[in-house]
Amino acid sequence: PLDWYREMRQSHPVTYDDREQQWMVFRYADVRRVLSEHETFSSEVESHGHTLTPLDVSLIALDPPRHRHLRALVTQVFTPRTVASLEPRLTALVNELLDQRVEAGMLDVIDDLAYPLTVTMIAELLGIPVLDRAHFRRWSDQLASIVPFDGTNFMGEMEAYFSCLLAERRRAPQADLLSALQTAQIEGQYLSKLEILGFCILLLVAGNVTTTHLLGNAFLCLDAFPQVRAHIEERPDQIFSVLEEVLRYRSPIRFMFRVAKRDIVLGGQDILAGQWVTAWLASANHDETIFPDPERFDPQRSPNPHLSFGYGIHYCLGASLARLESRIVLESMVRRFASFQRLPGSRLQPLSAQSFMQGVLHLPIMF
Ligand code: HEM
Repeated sequence: PLDWYREMRQSHPVTYDDREQQWMVFRYADVRRVLSEHETFSSEVESHGHTLTPLDVSLIALDPPRHRHLRALVTQVFTPRTVASLEPRLTALVNELLDQRVEAGMLDVIDDLAYPLTVTMIAELLGIPVLDRAHFRRWSDQLASIVPFDGTNFMGEMEAYFSCLLAERRRAPQADLLSALQTAQIEGQYLSKLEILGFCILLLVAGNVTTTHLLGNAFLCLDAFPQVRAHIEERPDQIFSVLEEVLRYRSPIRFMFRVAKRDIVLGGQDILAGQWVTAWLASANHDETIFPDPERFDPQRSPNPHLSFGYGIHYCLGASLARLESRIVLESMVRRFASFQRLPGSRLQPLSAQSFMQGVLHLPIMF
C-alpha cells in the first residue's frame, strides 16, 4: 500500500471514489484538517435514516457539545497519571502470560499475548468479569471487521450482555466505570441507556483491537528490521521512540470517516454537504513533506507527529494506556529473552480487506 499512498498523495490527493461513494484524502495537511475541523467534518456519520445503535451515540460518533460533555466524564479514568498507576498490574499480567509460554519457547503475539493482555486490562477498568473475555474477542473482531462477518447478531449480543451487567450494578454499585456511568449526570440529566451501552461497547472494542494490532505491527517491524531489535536490546530506554515509529510506519488504524456538514473546497476539490470523507491516516503518516525519507523505519525519528491516534477533539482517549501496554510488553520481552524472532516458515495473513485496521491475524514467534 505504500506505493499506492505515495501515488495518491502525488496525483490524486483528494479524490472521489465512485464505487464507495465517498471522498478520499491522502496528504498529511488535508487529513489533519479533516480530523480537526469538526465544525465542517462531522463525526456523526451514521445517525441519519436508520435506528440508532449504541455506537452511534458513543463518544467517537458525536460532535460538540454532547461530545465534550461525555468526554469530560471519562477523561479522569484515562489521564497519563491514572494510567501510570496501572503499570505494576500490567507488568504482572505480561509476566503471567509469558510464563505460560516459556516452556514451549514460542508464543503467538496476537493470540497469547496482545489480545489477552489488552482485553483483561479494559475489562478490569470497566469492571467486567474477565471470564467472559472469549466473547469479547469475537465481538470486537466482528465490529472492526477484522474477520469476515460471521452472520451472528453480535451487536444485539453485546447489548444484551451489557444490559444485564448494568442492571446488576444498579442493584449493587461497585467502584468501577460501569457503576460510575450510571450515576453520572450531564446538566442534571442521567445518560440514556443507549449512551451507557455505547460507552461500554466503544471502550471494549477500541481498547483491545487497536493495541493488539499495534503490538503485532511492532513485532513485524522488529522482524523486518533486525537492526532495530538489536537497538532496543542494547537501549531499552529507546522502546518508546521505536513504538512511536511503529505507530507511524504501520498505523493500526488505516483511515477514519467524517461527513461534510457544509460545502467545502479541499485540495482544489468541491466536497458537498452530506458527502462522506475518508481521512487516510496511514498515508498521512508517510507524507514526505512532513516525514523526511518516510519509507525508512527510523527508530530515533524526531519529531514524529504521526496521526495514528487521530488529531483534535477526538484524539484517542486511550493513547497513554496503549503506549504503556505496548512498552511494558516489549520491555519484558527484551528483559526476559536473550532473543526472539518470527517462527520460520510461518505465513502472515493480513486482516480482512474491509477492515479499517492494519495488522495480521496471527503472529507466532519463538524465543
Ligand atoms: C479515538 C486510535 C487505543 C479508546 C481514537 C482515534 C484514533 C484512535 C485514530 C480517533 C478517532 C477519530 O478521530 O474519529 C487508537 C490506536 C490505539 C488506540 C491506534 C492503539 C494503538 C485505545 C485504547 C482505548 C481507546 C487502549 C481505551 C482504553 C478510544 C476512544 C476514542 C478513541 C474512547 C474516542 C475519543 C473521542 O471520540 O473523543 N483512537 N486508539 N483507544 N480511542 Fe483509541
